[in-house]
Amino acid sequence: MTSPLHEFIRGLPKAELHLHIEGSLEPELMFALAQRNGIQLPYTSVEQVRAAYDFSDLQSFLDLYYAGAAVLQTEQDFYDLTMAYIQRALADNVRHVELFFDPQTHTVRGVAMATVFAGIARALRQARQEHDFSGSMILCFLRHLSEEDAFACLAAALPLHEEYQDLWNGIGLDSAEVGNPPEKFTRVFAQASQLGFRLVAHAGEEGPPTYIHSALEELKIERIDHGVRAEEDPVLMAALIHSQMPLTVCPLSNLKLRVVQDLRQHNLARMLRAGVCVTINSDDPAYFGGYMNTNFIASADALDLNHAELVQLAKNSFCASFASAEQKQSWLDELAQYATRSESVV
Ligand code: ADE
Ligand code: ZN
Repeated sequence: MTSPLHEFIRGLPKAELHLHIEGSLEPELMFALAQRNGIQLPYTSVEQVRAAYDFSDLQSFLDLYYAGAAVLQTEQDFYDLTMAYIQRALADNVRHVELFFDPQTHTVRGVAMATVFAGIARALRQARQEHDFSGSMILCFLRHLSEEDAFACLAAALPLHEEYQDLWNGIGLDSAEVGNPPEKFTRVFAQASQLGFRLVAHAGEEGPPTYIHSALEELKIERIDHGVRAEEDPVLMAALIHSQMPLTVCPLSNLKLRVVQDLRQHNLARMLRAGVCVTINSDDPAYFGGYMNTNFIASADALDLNHAELVQLAKNSFCASFASAEQKQSWLDELAQYATRSESVV
């Protein structure tokens, strides 16, 4: 059921800081690309694909996510994928995205690094020209692969940096967390830092709070992706509040992957009310049941988020972005105006 609060959420300007572009591959596009590229899928219908999205944990999702990504072959495929996400983001009043992409998922299948970059970049640049929308790219290393593989991935991408320096400004770490601690990648993150990249990493999604600690201390990240298990360690929680280290939380993802059993038990609101810089994001929206506004609305309903808290979440998303100080201020001004205008209505 829709409500004035839902309308308020729909109109709220916001940024998305945790979005895997491969995770925005809707089953309809998966089928269209499979047909275009002559690939046989292990499904006969879109309904069958959706029915298969019944995950028990992160690994059960990753197995289908990597299999689905096999339909992405050409520059046009990556462009279509990214443009489809941008349309959904625009509809949700997302002003800015810092999207993740996983080159190793594609290069291992023989897709050139340049193909991946070119397709994603063409869509982001077009959106920047045609809409009030900006985007940037965070290259993620797959943590189930080796440190050597991560170094090779960075080396293969670096020759493209000049061509895409307006977009590619970050390095991240994703895939199977447990058993692949952040410190496995300390040296490659140090190299990325020296090259001037902004650093983020998934930590504390399924992995223990010690992984959050080592992602901060060893990898020197500037934002924690997920981080929901931080709550188990009061000392870590106090440090996150003190440093205002941002957490990119993904409520529907956590529900789908059974990090929480019920959204009403999610710690997003508790952490927000305790003063942690949390943000709301969609992670892999095609797999987890919704884009930004669906995540905001489901969280607001389950956790009784009020207007001020929703504005704070949007504010956190802009402040935690890697955009310039000037750009951030312009978004914050727009957000403040929206909040004031809405106050007189609701
Ligand atoms: N890759 C795509 N989605 C992910 C998630 N939620 N956690 C880790 N790796 C991912
Ligand atoms: Zn993620």
